[in-house]
Formats: sequence, C-alpha cells, structure tokens
Amino acid sequence: MNTANFIPNILEYSLEKATYKWQTPSNIALVKYWGKSDPQIPKNASISFTLNNCHTTTQIEFIKIESTEIPLFELFFEGKKKDDFKPKIATFFDRIKKYCPYLLEYKMIIHSENSFPHSSGIASSASGMSAIAMCLIHLEKELTLNTDDAFLKQKASFLSRLGSGSASRSVEGPIVVWGKHPEIVGSSDLYGVKFPYPIAPIFQDFQDTILLVDKGEKQVSSTVGHNLMIDHPYAENRFKQANENLSILSKILQEGAIEEFIKLVESEALTLHAMMLTSQPYFILMKPKTLEIINEIWKYRSETKSNVCFTLDAGANVHLLYPKKEKESIAVFIQEKLSQYCQNNQYINDYSGLGSSKI
Ligand code: DP6
Repeated sequence: MNTANFIPNILEYSLEKATYKWQTPSNIALVKYWGKSDPQIPKNASISFTLNNCHTTTQIEFIKIESTEIPLFELFFEGKKKDDFKPKIATFFDRIKKYCPYLLEYKMIIHSENSFPHSSGIASSASGMSAIAMCLIHLEKELTLNTDDAFLKQKASFLSRLGSGSASRSVEGPIVVWGKHPEIVGSSDLYGVKFPYPIAPIFQDFQDTILLVDKGEKQVSSTVGHNLMIDHPYAENRFKQANENLSILSKILQEGAIEEFIKLVESEALTLHAMMLTSQPYFILMKPKTLEIINEIWKYRSETKSNVCFTLDAGANVHLLYPKKEKESIAVFIQEKLSQYCQNNQYINDYSGLGSSKI
C-alpha cells in the first residue's frame, strides 16, 4: 500500500450539509514509539492496548462552501470556543488535505470533549486526532460511495497518524501494531493494524488503572522528545531493541507468558524514560511519586505473587496493568497503598477496548 491509494476519487460534492459524531479511545503502548522521521514515519514498530473508558467524543458539522485554499473550521472544546487548540488541528488538516480534498469544500464546526479530566496528564492527542479522522472518513464514505469498511478504517488510521503518531493505534482494538515489522502480517509505517494473531485468554480484557500522579502540563512535549532522538547517542540500538521486543511480545501475547510480559513491558517503560534522561538536553518526566509507586508495585508483587505490572507514557502518571481475574485484589491494593501517591487520590479504571464507535 502506498500513499497514493489514499487519494480518493470524489464522485460529487452535492452533499450540502452533514454531521458525524464519533468516539475514539486513548491507547497505552507496551512497546513504545519514540523517534520518527517526516512525515510521521516511526523509527520502530510499536504495539498498544486500545483503552475503553478514556476517550474523546467529537462531532463535526460540515457545511458546503465555495472552495477555499486552507481548511476552514471552528473548534469548541467541552462547549467553549478553544482557539489555543486550533494551530495543532490546522497543521493536521494541512498535512491531510491532499488525501481529503473535500476539506476545502466545507466549513467544519467541531465540538469535542474528553471522558477523562481535563489536563489529567493523559495524552489526548491519540483519542482526539483519531476521533476527527473518523468523522472525516465518514464524510468521504458518502462522497465516494466507498463501502469497503476495511479500507476506510485503514485510511482513518493513516489520517490519525498524520495528526499524532500514536493516534494511528486508536481506531481499532484491543491490540494494535503500528510500524512495519517482519513478523506482523500486514503491518505498515503508514497506519496501525489489529494484532493479527490469537491473543491468549490472560491478555484478553486486560485492565489498566491510570494512577494520576501529576496532572500539570508536561515540561517537554512528545513532539520535542521525538526530535531529541535524532542525534541521540543510543538511538539506533533503541530502535533495534524495540523491534526485537515486539517480536518477543508477539509470542508472549499468543502464548500467555505473563511473567515474560511483565519483564518486557516494565523494561520498555523504563527504557523510554532512559532515552529522555540521556537526551541532549536531558529531561525527567517522572516525579518522586512515580518512583514510590513503582517500588510499591515491586514489593506487592514479591509478597503476593500477583501479576500486576506498570508502564509509563511520556509523563509522570503510572499505568497499572493486570489480568481481569486480579481486579478485586488490585482494587484493594490501589485503595490501601497506591492512591495516596495520586493527586487528590485520583485514578481511572480502564481496560482494553475495541476502538472507535459511532455515537
Ligand atoms: C511515549 O504520538 O504523542 O506515548 O506523533 O509527535 O504526536 P506525536 O507523538 P505521540 O507520541 C507518543 C509517545 C509515547 C509512546 C507511544 O504511545 O508509543
């Protein structure tokens, strides 16, 4: 598949008005994407659990206008006009207008809201960009009369990637791979694909409780962090290691090897942060409470033989991952031990979900 396949054959622009509303979730990477080249091509393949409860709901109203040169849109976030989010979305529209020429034929009124608290430190770009992409793709579906749903999902992921790399993994679920990898059939640098092999029962309905350690703005954005991988002394080894880890994880997920899963996933999280610690300029996104939680998890695991583990994204929050059958005991562990490290004792219970849905 090359990018030209994503340039549509528009039949007509007779549609004067249309409105679409889609909900798409966030996702949590197990093997991390950290490092990219233009245009949003990952340096290594990554794999994630799609989440369920942490999602963005976006409605776009399309109103036919005289053709313009730059996409026209208004943006409302949680009911209020949100002009400071506009530049990121304007860049996104500019990147995708070649693949969505209909963007220039309509004015868009976008209403968006998140299910998770505003500035909770949960990255909203994955769910936000993929929700916009799903609305666009459904306008395209009507303008082209294309009913090939597999293609439309693939293109939604392709467009999402151009908004935010990790967003390419939010269109489907429960486990998605983005980035070309020799052992993942159908994988591509251009879009995410559903993990193509059977998933062992222990990894189905996997739980993710997000411990909200720090809800403030990150000092270093993911985009800046990715760029610091360009001249990073350990970059090439890291990209190679990530692809090898994905091979290993693919087997783990199929075989249900939970102990190996824990080792690999925690190592990936710490390696991601090690890349930040060794960037120039160097930076730290973990907070003291992030480390306190990690130590509590290790202690709990050695005392109880639980299969709980952690991962981190580019921030201080900790994602607590565990099999569904441990849900009750882990709820007690969180209440009694971990919630004290969270800002205002806040955390969000989530689990692996199936991706985007129409509202
Ligand atoms: C650490 O997808 O947010 O969460 O492509 O610049 O928008 P951009 O970056 P983004 O990076 C996510 C990085 C990560 C790891 C991951 O999700 O794989």
